This record gives sequence, C-alpha cells and structure tokens, in this order.
Amino acid sequence: MSEIFNVGIVGAGNINRIGHLNPGWKAVPGVHVAAVCDINPETARKLAADYGIPRVFIDYREMLEREELDIVDVCTPNRFHTPVVIAALRAGKHVLCEKPLAVSTAEVLAIREVLKGTDRLLMTAQHCRFSDSSAAIKAWVDTGALGEVYHARVNATRRNFLPTNPGFIDPKLSGGGPCMDIGVHALDTALWLMNFPKPVRVSGQAHTNFAKGFDIPGGWGEWDRTLFGVEDFASGYVHFANGSTLVIEASWLQHQEKEEINATLQGRKASVRWPDGRFHTVVNRSLVDGHILPRPGMQKPYTEELLAFVDAIRNNKPSPVPIDETLVVIAILEAIMQSSQLKREVALQAPFG
Ligand SMILES: NC(=O)c1ccc[n+]([C@@H]2O[C@H](COP(=O)([O-])OP(=O)(O)OC[C@H]3O[C@@H](n4cnc5c(N)ncnc54)[C@H](O)[C@@H]3O)[C@@H](O)[C@H]2O)c1
Repeated sequence: MSEIFNVGIVGAGNINRIGHLNPGWKAVPGVHVAAVCDINPETARKLAADYGIPRVFIDYREMLEREELDIVDVCTPNRFHTPVVIAALRAGKHVLCEKPLAVSTAEVLAIREVLKGTDRLLMTAQHCRFSDSSAAIKAWVDTGALGEVYHARVNATRRNFLPTNPGFIDPKLSGGGPCMDIGVHALDTALWLMNFPKPVRVSGQAHTNFAKGFDIPGGWGEWDRTLFGVEDFASGYVHFANGSTLVIEASWLQHQEKEEINATLQGRKASVRWPDGRFHTVVNRSLVDGHILPRPGMQKPYTEELLAFVDAIRNNKPSPVPIDETLVVIAILEAIMQSSQLKREVALQAPFG
C-alpha cells in the first residue's frame, strides 16, 4: 500500500457514530479522516472532538476547495445527497454515499452522467450486503442452489421505531418514509441476491396510519407530528422481465411482534431467507431444512463496506455497489410511490442499461 487516502465527511450525524467512525474508517488501513463538514457547526465540532478529526467546515464546497481529499463520504439527509455527490465527483474525489444514493430516478441518472465523465469510484453505502450472513448466503445462492428464483418476499417493518430526526420524517429532507429509509436496505439486498433482474411493472400503496397520532409510543422517543409528511407504511408488487415477481412491505409503525428486516427468495430447487440463512428444499421426496452459517472472521458490515470501497479504489476494481444497481432500486421505490398516487400500476421505462 503506497498512498494514504484523506477522507472528508459531509454530514456529522448519527450514522458516523453507529457506523462510519465506529470503527468504520478508523479500521481501514491507509485511510485518514482529515475533515468533517456540517451545516450545524456545533455538530461538526463535537464529532471532530469525539473522533479526533483535525479540521471542521460548515460548507462542503469550501471543504472541497481547501482540503486535499481523496474520498468524500456523504452522510447528509437524503435530499442533499445528489448535490454533494455531484460536486465531489466534479472536484475529482472518490465518493461513498449513504443510502439511498438519491431520492429519484432523475437524480440517479444525473449522478450517472457526471460519473461517466470521470475515472472516480462511486459506491452507495448499502451496508447490509457486507454482513457475514449476506456474504455466506450470496456465495450459496451463486452456486445455483435455489434454481430459478420466481418470487421474493421483502420485509422492512418495525413495530414502533420511527426515526425522530427531521431528516427522516420531513419530506423536504428525507424524500420519503420507511420505503426510502429501511425498504431500501432489504430491497437492495434481495435484488443483489437475485442478480438484479430487470423490473418492468410496479404497483404500490402508501399510507400514514399511525404517525400523525399518539397511539403508538416511539421507541426512539417522540417526533414532531406537524413535521411528519411521509408515509409510515408502504407495500409494493414488482414484475420483472424474466417473469419473476417481488413483494415488499416497509413500515416504521405497525402492530407486530418485533422488527422484521428480511427477504425470502423462492426458487424452483430451494428457498432461502436473508439474513438468518434458513433454507428449505426437498431431496428424494424428503423435506429438508438447513441453515447457512455466517462467514467467519468478518468485521461489522459498516466497516466491511468501507474496506471493500477502498480495496476497489486501490486495485482498480468495479464499484462494490454500482450505480446501475442503485438505479434499479430507486426506480422501484419511486414507482411504488407513483403507483400509490396515481392509483394504478406503473410501467418502468428508466434506461437500465
Ligand atoms: N446505513 C444505515 O444503516 C444508516 C443508518 C442511519 C442513517 N443512514 C443514512 O445516513 C444519512 C444521515 O443520517 P443520520 O442518521 O446520520 O442523520 P442525522 O440527522 O443524525 O445527521 C445528518 C447531519 O447532516 C447535516 N446536514 C444537513 N444538510 C447538510 C449539508 N448540506 N451539508 C453538511 N451537513 C448537512 C445535519 O446538520 C445533520 O447533522 C441519511 O442518508 C440516512 O439515510 C444510514
């Protein structure tokens, strides 16, 4: 390893404390977190003090101009990802951006246009792909163990864990509710396990059932009901060009026993559930159940994703989460919401090639 990469973080909020700096970048050899930027100077200063980051900015454009950065790590609320990602790419930086990369297909396409004109690496931080169980399940699925996958059931539902920060519940900041926030994790992982079939038609329905009222107590505290402007439940049904289908549910608040973030892939030879690795099949007319064990020796997914990102930069590998895959994920999430508003099925025509 020859070169030290300097990282600048934009958005000094919670994701840094749970993931990108815990230990996150600190555990990636040859990386130095040189600067952090937040529109709230106190938040930036506190993160810098807590994690030993030398310089603090309140404007990311100034950070891009004044710092010798190699990598920009975008951790702002969702609506502000696109301008920061585009500015960082134009400034010649490699970019890691928190999920969702952007809040619309149009934004992803705009980022893709800029990316095409650079030799930089862009990765969406879909950390669920980088867990020990995901690695083991993906390797098993890629052996063909499931046979042809004809359906997937994707679940990202919580009983009473609604994120209270405005960045999640104010549509001007978040661009969407649980579909964008946690649906994106389970959907991205399911599509990755399915090798990204091409979606052609989507229908969806979104509701705000509980978040405007006070019936369900917030597990992360109370939220501002007047600011709440996104759905608290959405479901979608996706048809793919190869004839397979996918059903997704995403919710922050609903009557259920516990959080369910999972995906079940139904194949003609076997089914498997992510992330617990339970599989079911039949051998010589005997019903067989099994369990794929997590891959040993891996670090936290938030650290593994950063290791994969830096490895791809150093060794000229493709992005571990390429923009064309993110485009499919965002197109489906957007179509679920469009279908709900239009009260009809939506055909997907985005250029997926
Ligand atoms: N992968 C995961 O598990 C996971 C978990 C949590 C959050 N996230 C994602 O991380 C991102 C941030 O979430 P969070 O929980 O850290 O939110 P947060 O509200 O804790 O922090 C966001 C920070 O960004 C700052 N900010 C807003 N606009 C800015 C701008 N233009 N320039 C610089 N700073 C700006 C805010 O002041 C705030 O401090 C979101 O995209 C979210 O979806 C991912």
